[in-house]
Amino acid sequence: MRNKFFTLLIALFALVLTACVGAPQEGASTTNTNAPATAANGKIKIGFSMDTLKEERWQRDKELFEQRVRELGGEVLTTVANGSDADQINQCENLLTQGINVLVIVPHNGNALSNVVAAAKRQGVPVIAYDRLIRNADIDLYTSHQVEKMGEMQARYALDKVPNGNYLLIGGSPTDNNAILMRKGQMNVLKPEADAGRIEIVAEPYAREWSADEALNLTENALTQNNNDIQAVVVSNDGTAGGVVQALQAQGLTGKTVVTGQDADLAGLQRIAAGTQTMTIYKPIRPLAYGAAEAAMKLARKEPLDAATDRINNGMKDVPAILHEPVVVDRNNIVSTVVKDGFQTYDKIYANIPAANRPPNNQ
Ligand code: BGC
Repeated sequence: MRNKFFTLLIALFALVLTACVGAPQEGASTTNTNAPATAANGKIKIGFSMDTLKEERWQRDKELFEQRVRELGGEVLTTVANGSDADQINQCENLLTQGINVLVIVPHNGNALSNVVAAAKRQGVPVIAYDRLIRNADIDLYTSHQVEKMGEMQARYALDKVPNGNYLLIGGSPTDNNAILMRKGQMNVLKPEADAGRIEIVAEPYAREWSADEALNLTENALTQNNNDIQAVVVSNDGTAGGVVQALQAQGLTGKTVVTGQDADLAGLQRIAAGTQTMTIYKPIRPLAYGAAEAAMKLARKEPLDAATDRINNGMKDVPAILHEPVVVDRNNIVSTVVKDGFQTYDKIYANIPAANRPPNNQ
């Protein structure tokens, strides 16, 4: 009887031990050369670590990414760090303890995630940098739009309208590699003009955290320092353009000073329709989100990423990349671009514009 009891106890112990070893391992420093098994229900699990949902676009990214992974038979665990590096690192580490097969990250700070990426790789979990590059890390894929080109498009657009004059450049968050790439693109176009004395760049600050309030303050300061003598503000996204337009409005300069943007946010498009912002860059989100979801599922299944035909160096390696085409949008092509694509609706964009002043809705 006693012997039987002990045999049972030992069998039970062995069972518990097997279960423990099979469970996903805690902590960022675990070493595991095999990719984690699929979830208990047999589904592939994708971790999606987002920085923020502040700008309108990120909600769209989240919905479309999750939807496409589900359509492909996987499930998504999404976290949002709200601009905190520490939270994003914790959330990624936490996702890694939950048996994810692939980790997809929109980094808040492209320089702060090397260790988390290394931890993922030690667990055999591939990593995708989504929209923003992760620097100095062994990532498997970077997928975004052509960011440097977007900076060039903004600058070329402004230069076309203002071939001679004073320029203010309002960049995005300096911790976001996209903000740096955009500035590089803007300067590719503007620096030769400044060097030739055709334009003057009066200031080129960055708005921390892509903050509209900070963009407003920076613009107010530049206007004061230059006696309002600024003809173009090359702004890196629509959120910050909102702050810039407010500062210009207070000085009666809207409609006179050229203002660029990015994202085709509803508020940005409404300002374009009203004539207070001049242009934006439309980045279709569906191909980005769907492409990332498809790539994540392929990585989980150890299939090749045929779509990754570009390469971008992140300081550690040439990362395979999928970079989508951006589109310039101004008041002349709102209907044939964002409305036609169903990205924003005609009624919402022109809600504040009298019917007689609206363009035909002939998309
Ligand atoms: C994105 C933009 C966005 C900005 C602020 C950038 O990295 O590419 O679309 O407006 O971050 O969130």
